[in-house]
Amino acid sequence: MASTEFIVALTLLVLCGVSLSHGTQCKLTFRDCGSKQGTLNSALYNGTCAKGFAILKHGTTASIEFNFQAKKAESALKSKVAGSIAGLPFVSFPLGNPDACKDSGLTCPVPANTNVNYQPVLQILNTYPKVNVIVRWELQDSDGGDVFCALIPATITS
Ligand SMILES: *[C@@H]1O[C@H](CO)[C@@H](O)[C@H](O)[C@H]1NC(C)=O
Repeated sequence: MASTEFIVALTLLVLCGVSLSHGTQCKLTFRDCGSKQGTLNSALYNGTCAKGFAILKHGTTASIEFNFQAKKAESALKSKVAGSIAGLPFVSFPLGNPDACKDSGLTCPVPANTNVNYQPVLQILNTYPKVNVIVRWELQDSDGGDVFCALIPATITS
């Protein structure tokens, strides 16, 4: 029996190790807002999601993994992020590193019609208001065309 317990404990340890190294990820709910030069397949968030909302916690660093494909090869890609609170117009949201070809998991040029992962990070500052916000994430090519445009419902909490 002792050896069974040992194996169970070992299995749990290994499982915990695996989930820690990968972090936990939840699938973000998003709505397309005019992707013309590509398609967003999925968006995973390494924080918590609840009832279709991404929970953005003050003082944390959020990492999102966008899986997308572009219609043509893209050598320059930039992120443009904006937020809308209570149906008000979108207000742009500064990103530390808007260059998607730099330090975000992509190798540019991104080939045409190939699924790739873009993994930007976002600082959730304590100064952000604690509200529900619709985040609009656009990944734009060098002509300003949207490779993807996604609306992501989020809740900012402390
Ligand atoms: C999410 O990823 C970022 C960037 O790698 C990291 O700093 C942060 O701690 C991660 N958050 C969680 C909850 O694992």
